[in-house]
Amino acid sequence: MRPPTAPNAVRRAEYRFFDQRPPPSALLDEVIEGLTEEPKRIAPKFFYDERGSRLFEAITRLPEYYLTRTEMGLFDVCLPEVRDRFGEGGCLVEYGAGSTVKIRRLLEELRPGAYLPVDISRCHLERCARTLHADHPHLSVYPMCADMTAPFELPEVVAGLDKLGFYPGSSIGNFEPGDAQAFLRQVAATLGAGSRLLIGVDRKKDIGLLEAAYNDSAGVTAEFNLNILHHLNAALATEIDPAGFRHRAAYNEASGCVQMFLESRKDQSARVDGRIVEFTQGERVHTENSYKYDVGQFAELAKGGGFKVEASWSDADAYFTLFLLQAE
Ligand code: AVI
Repeated sequence: MRPPTAPNAVRRAEYRFFDQRPPPSALLDEVIEGLTEEPKRIAPKFFYDERGSRLFEAITRLPEYYLTRTEMGLFDVCLPEVRDRFGEGGCLVEYGAGSTVKIRRLLEELRPGAYLPVDISRCHLERCARTLHADHPHLSVYPMCADMTAPFELPEVVAGLDKLGFYPGSSIGNFEPGDAQAFLRQVAATLGAGSRLLIGVDRKKDIGLLEAAYNDSAGVTAEFNLNILHHLNAALATEIDPAGFRHRAAYNEASGCVQMFLESRKDQSARVDGRIVEFTQGERVHTENSYKYDVGQFAELAKGGGFKVEASWSDADAYFTLFLLQAE
């Protein structure tokens, strides 16, 4: 009989890809459903094809987009404290493999034994995971291509390791609050009781600052928003002319979120899987909500999601907060 694996036992570093991607037919059904509803909508997960991921990386470097630099400014104080609690050699699970800049800081400071990024954009995921594996030969890297908004299972290979989830950038704000809570419940179940989640949350603040962050002067956010149509046309064979739409973003104070839309420049029709979808001039297709939270409001949401707040770190301007949560 084999002895039980010790917690965070050292394994030989390896690279293994796990594919739990939903079939394209399920994605097309979701797009058709959104475009045949009133008001029309396309889910924000469709932003992230190869070009969309690159445009988002460009957004994170924009002067108006304070979120990324503010969050990273908190790492100096936050990461040593996370390391004291989490220890070395565990499994770092990143929800959404964004730019590798943040994860490199975590890998250096926390020294996990395994890194498991989860993302729906296969090419982007593999490229980032392979680069990180090459740069960290002692780290096992297990990229998982999956829709993280749907339940998925962690591979057996990380079963014996302590888990730390990482969900930066205030991506939690892209869920409706009820869906955010359901997502957190799912994360808590996937990682297991006692596991931790380091999560970045953008705070409520001056409306001018919020709106500038989603209407940058270089027009990168507009390109990112319109790219959702390029992506659908390429991946799902829809025929929607991106030039027929313009980017719109504004803060909705009643809901507490920045909302993004694609506004039709004219009356037009488009082919979506054999059916014709009509757009009237000025009609808006909703593409994203980005909720902003107060600290207390988010702590309540996390509690409903099965987590307690273990620690939090905020910048001096109270623009952004990093929460370390623990699954109950
Ligand atoms: C990924 N997510 C947190 C970004 C946000 O701020 O909601 C996506 C984004 N949309 C426009 N700019 C950036």
